Amino acid sequence: MMNQTTHEEKINRLEFLKKLGLSGASLMAVYCGVTMSSCKNESVTPATNTGTTVTYDLNTYPALKTIGGYYVDTARNIVIAHTSDDRYVTVTLICTHEGQKQIRYSGTKFSCTAHGATFDNTGKALTVASAALTTYPTTLTGTVLSVIV
Ligand code: FES
Repeated sequence: MMNQTTHEEKINRLEFLKKLGLSGASLMAVYCGVTMSSCKNESVTPATNTGTTVTYDLNTYPALKTIGGYYVDTARNIVIAHTSDDRYVTVTLICTHEGQKQIRYSGTKFSCTAHGATFDNTGKALTVASAALTTYPTTLTGTVLSVIV
């Protein structure tokens, strides 16, 4: 018999459950029930601010010029998002659910690609995680963003 890998076998369990139409708490309930060991329902203590100012010229980071665009600075563990006309929000890259460095921005909210936690534009936890993401003061002067990390 030939060793064939079907499309279904390539989809991980979480993606499979999402395709079933499950989301939010119901998705996590089923996902955690299936995997058992990967969901601890523990919150990670948010990162603290150090007070160091870091700058980003929008001409060097073009994704930040567009509303809904974002940049992940893995060296500093932060995600900078352009959330509205003149507003930028910077949050930690480290999810408060289980500490995975997988926070991204969807154009309307932050989310974690590990288990689907979502956070609003202020970092407040909406689903899966219970603690807010640490935010960092972010200001735009001309084309230069200053972030106090
Ligand atoms: S680490 Fe679990 S949702 Fe982010």
